[in-house]
Amino acid sequence: MMTGGFDRLLQLHGEALAVVFARIDEVRRQIEREDGFEVIDQVRSRIKTPQSIENKLRGLGLEPTCAHAQEHLRDIAGIRIIALYAKAVESLVRALRTLPDLTIVTEKDYIGCPKPSGYRSYHLIVAVQIEGEPVFVEIQLRTQAMDFWASLEHKVRYKYHGHIPQHLSDELAKVADQIAQLDQRMFLIQEIISLINE
Ligand code: GTP
Ligand code: MG
Repeated sequence: MMTGGFDRLLQLHGEALAVVFARIDEVRRQIEREDGFEVIDQVRSRIKTPQSIENKLRGLGLEPTCAHAQEHLRDIAGIRIIALYAKAVESLVRALRTLPDLTIVTEKDYIGCPKPSGYRSYHLIVAVQIEGEPVFVEIQLRTQAMDFWASLEHKVRYKYHGHIPQHLSDELAKVADQIAQLDQRMFLIQEIISLINE
């Protein structure tokens, strides 16, 4: 079990979460001013538990120490932005890229390029300076429909210990495609509404 320095590790990541949370809120208000409609349903965050940090390090073949966690893990602090439209995910990512105190470390576009499972989300790893050190935060952006799908798929995966039977994974992949179409149609309706309001 990890001992020394763990409180500090959690504290640094807690502070990093607070900074990124505040930036997301600024970005949200800016986009809503420009576009004239709401873009975010909710923002959730979590910090990995010591047990989960330990498991992940062991999975990487590393001793579970705080030094290893800080050096090798980028998702101890995680934020999930549930957006109202896939278009809003694009606007949010574009705005996040412009923030001076937030460095984008990696970007993965699983919306433009879904995983074979059907998983869709936009992933960012960002770094913020806390007490002179870079601290990483994983940001996942997805629509409500993508979130609905990911939660269900996660439950199924867990039930089958990671090995989902073919008929279920086929069905999940099909539903994921339908959800993407649904998101698109919902957004078109939103666009019609905004045109009427203008
Ligand atoms: P991790 O070691 O899990 O962080 O994987 P990675 O470094 O390859 O990152 P990736 O961007 O692939 O995925 C990170 C996170 O995205 C996971 O912890 C999940 O929260 C989510 N995720 C990725 N793929 C899937 C998927 O097929 N289904 C579900 N439900 N979630 C996924
Ligand atoms: Mg992860």
